[in-house]
Amino acid sequence: MKILGIETTCDETGAAIVEGKLNSTSGLKLLSNIVASSADLHKKYGGVVPEVAAREQVKVIVPVVKEALEQAAGFMNRELRIMNKDTIGWARENIDAIAVAHGPGLIGPLLIGVETAKAFAVAWEKPLIAVNHLVGHVYANWLRVDGSRFTEPQFPIVGLIVSGGHTDLVLMKNHGDFQLLGSTLDDAAGEAFDKVAKLLGLGYPGGPEIERAAQQVTIDPSIKLRVNRKQLTYNFPRPLIGSADYNFSFSGLKTAVVTTVNKLSYSSNGSEKFKSVNSSRSARTISDDFKSKIATEFQNAVVDVLVKKTIKAASKFGARSIVVGGGVAANSLLRKEFRVKSLELRIPAYFPSKEVSVDNGAMIAAAAFYNFKKVDPLKLSADPSLHF
Ligand code: KG4
Ligand code: ZN
Repeated sequence: MKILGIETTCDETGAAIVEGKLNSTSGLKLLSNIVASSADLHKKYGGVVPEVAAREQVKVIVPVVKEALEQAAGFMNRELRIMNKDTIGWARENIDAIAVAHGPGLIGPLLIGVETAKAFAVAWEKPLIAVNHLVGHVYANWLRVDGSRFTEPQFPIVGLIVSGGHTDLVLMKNHGDFQLLGSTLDDAAGEAFDKVAKLLGLGYPGGPEIERAAQQVTIDPSIKLRVNRKQLTYNFPRPLIGSADYNFSFSGLKTAVVTTVNKLSYSSNGSEKFKSVNSSRSARTISDDFKSKIATEFQNAVVDVLVKKTIKAASKFGARSIVVGGGVAANSLLRKEFRVKSLELRIPAYFPSKEVSVDNGAMIAAAAFYNFKKVDPLKLSADPSLHF
């Protein structure tokens, strides 16, 4: 079965074709995965401007879907690709269903993907499957990306979804059976990365920038990270790390970073204190070395909380696997710490391949494959506040 997945919940426009066999335990094959991002256009604002994102998506959605189909057709039939034969004809014959992320997300961007998917489903007379974007992030772990070995996560699963808008911990007893254990009470983990990066005068999206800045800290390879952490100048709080529930909170951590930056800029030039998290004015007055140290310690704090609470839930609920998804799952320190802890606990931790950690159409198609519930194209609408 081949599914076309469409994703437009934020600033990405994703279309992908995945192929799977029913009752197989070998995951889904990625035939194509095209993502167009308008992130560059949002850089100067330090965050996504919904109207700008939607305007770009209107322009690129059809070419992105076409390219995904062409690549998949080429994957199946090299000759067809070379001769650039009728892609739509190939899609009508070979695509079994169309899946679309219908929420949560920004209403403008969501509408572009949902309406496009509905149009294709009606025109090609294919089943339409509506997918929760957060569920899609979980199912990125069922995608077999070229060259990567695949083992299927076993139920019950504890899932951590860490993206720009969400931080959720879920218990998954079977395909499609999600129980929400906890969420962030304020900022999402990715949002905290984005805000701290902005504060430090680093680029957008903030996660990869913070990760890069943290890597600039000189680390003696003979010293283990844990020892090295103690040598760092700051020790930011780990909000709710010991709480009895499975909730998260990142706004206090962000404030601790603001306070530290305030102190640094104040003491370095004796000027007026830094006031707003939205300004990177005082970031200019601190050295790259201090920025790297702040980035390192901030990243350590976020990773500590995410790993500790997920491991606690996995032990409590007898999980046989831990599955992580969402843009922050691309973070190397998070991956490394989960690997270490899950080895200790003997519960395997799964991460999607980095290219399918951030938003993409393949994860939407993957979720649809394992939760094949048709919806009426004439009745489907976007739902910006959809949740688990
Ligand atoms: O899942 P995603 O692509 O979009 C949403 O659904 O929000 O996640 C985007 C978020 C952004 O906040 C971005 O800063 C963060 O994921 N992110 C990272 C990394 N790569 C992306 N955070 C930490 N480390 C990374 N390497
Ligand atoms: Zn996402």
